Amino acid sequence: MIDGIWCDTTPANRQLSVNFSVPLGARAETVMNPIKADTQVAAEGTTRMSRDTLSVTDNRTGKAYEVPIKNDTIRAMDLRQIKVTSDEFGMMSYDPAFSNTALCQSKITYIDGDKGILRYRGYSIEELAEKSTYLETAYLILHGELPTRAQLDEWAYHITHHTFIHESVKKFLDGFHYDAHPMGMMISAIAALSTFYPEAKDIFNKDSRQKQTYRLIGKMPTLAAFSYRHSLGMPFAYPDNELSYCGNFLNMLFKTSELKYHPNPTLERALDILFILHADHEQNCSANAMRCVGSSHVDPFSATAAATAALYGPLHGGANEEVLRMLLEIGSLANVPAFIKRVKAGEKKLMGFGHRVYKNYDPRARIIKHVADGVFEIMGRNPLLNIALECERIALEDDYFVSRKLYPNVDFYTGLIYQSMGFPVTMFPVLFAIPRTSGWIAQWEEMLLDPEQKIARPRQVYTGYDLRPYKSLDARE
Ligand code: CMC
Repeated sequence: MIDGIWCDTTPANRQLSVNFSVPLGARAETVMNPIKADTQVAAEGTTRMSRDTLSVTDNRTGKAYEVPIKNDTIRAMDLRQIKVTSDEFGMMSYDPAFSNTALCQSKITYIDGDKGILRYRGYSIEELAEKSTYLETAYLILHGELPTRAQLDEWAYHITHHTFIHESVKKFLDGFHYDAHPMGMMISAIAALSTFYPEAKDIFNKDSRQKQTYRLIGKMPTLAAFSYRHSLGMPFAYPDNELSYCGNFLNMLFKTSELKYHPNPTLERALDILFILHADHEQNCSANAMRCVGSSHVDPFSATAAATAALYGPLHGGANEEVLRMLLEIGSLANVPAFIKRVKAGEKKLMGFGHRVYKNYDPRARIIKHVADGVFEIMGRNPLLNIALECERIALEDDYFVSRKLYPNVDFYTGLIYQSMGFPVTMFPVLFAIPRTSGWIAQWEEMLLDPEQKIARPRQVYTGYDLRPYKSLDARE
């Protein structure tokens, strides 16, 4: 039984007592839903309630409240009734960075961070990575069920037939400086798509949403490959409809003078698995950006551009790029202990380690190690791998990391694979953004169709000045 955090209940004490089990009626005036004696059961000498409610005592007033608990959560709006005087706004919860706030109810992705479990629509990530393809997985994430053969064929047909981009988008990409970061190019180009498809604003039209879904999933690899080729000064390679989603992406990236590009099947499958692993990850920073921006009812291209911008940051999808830069900076096995020392001193972060939700080994990182073996067999072992393994070995034994439950996350090893496949580091976050598009769209659509959702608009605790008189320019010091 969980005991509440009881404290002095005198009105002078500005604290809130919260109790999950002890009845309030005997201690203070119960304002809402008075507790009934017949629902109480005696357990180990203590009175215990069997209701799914949370009892709260406001020690400023001595008033008690009872708030429903559903799915181990209380509604923040239920706190609003807690007031000292009837004319005040009422209580809010304060949760910087949403560390303990559920934004929505979702049926898409399940994570158990303590056990290291990840599932899309109930299917384990391990099984999907082994048996599925990215397009099948994207269908599952968006539609809730794995496709039948006919559904998959139709889905793949539509995605494949939306891979071309308008020639004007090409001109737009050409305007970027030769060393523009491809994520900057992607963010701008995705946003620009909204100007080519103004009908995408019709967000409550199912057919329109479907069409934009084909376009977004179909065109992301094309925009990515064109951004890459622009940085090399190479002519763009057009999509090849006879190839798979990942095969075509490799074609658009690496085709040179050959008439027909034949992707290496091992590399094609490796990329496909990596895409499966990155397809969704519930309410992370970029999914939250997609939902938040989408909640203003903007078109999905603009919302996806916002989500891509969120992903770009080094704490999120940009971490894979930072891991590679970090391993290059460490440079040799001999330098690993000194680097770890700096991390523990707070001078550096061990990029690719730690996660807000996973307090165990990220299940994606485990799968990625197997993918890496296959890629290294063909492309040769990445010389940075030994440095990465040594960082992991030391970190998994060191109390700093163990006590904080810092384990390798998805980004720790992906960069090594991408580099071996011939991608420059700046392309790493782009390789995250392409597959995450299916997850973003699923999150966006779920938000749009959820009758409980409205425009996202958090509250703040204002800590600035009270009203003060304006100071003329001459009077300022
Ligand atoms: N290296 C060293 N210390 C770390 C690290 C790290 N990578 N990550 C967290 N810590 C420490 C942090 O300093 C804090 O220590 P203390 O308690 O002494 O202040 C403690 O661990 C808790 O960390 P936090 O910053 O409160 O955790 P968070 O949930 O806010 O941050 C995170 C999660 C992923 C942003 C963070 O772990 C991090 O910056 N990791 C490196 C960047 C990275 O790999 N990002 C990719 C995340 S996975 C892919 C994705 O979904 O985007």
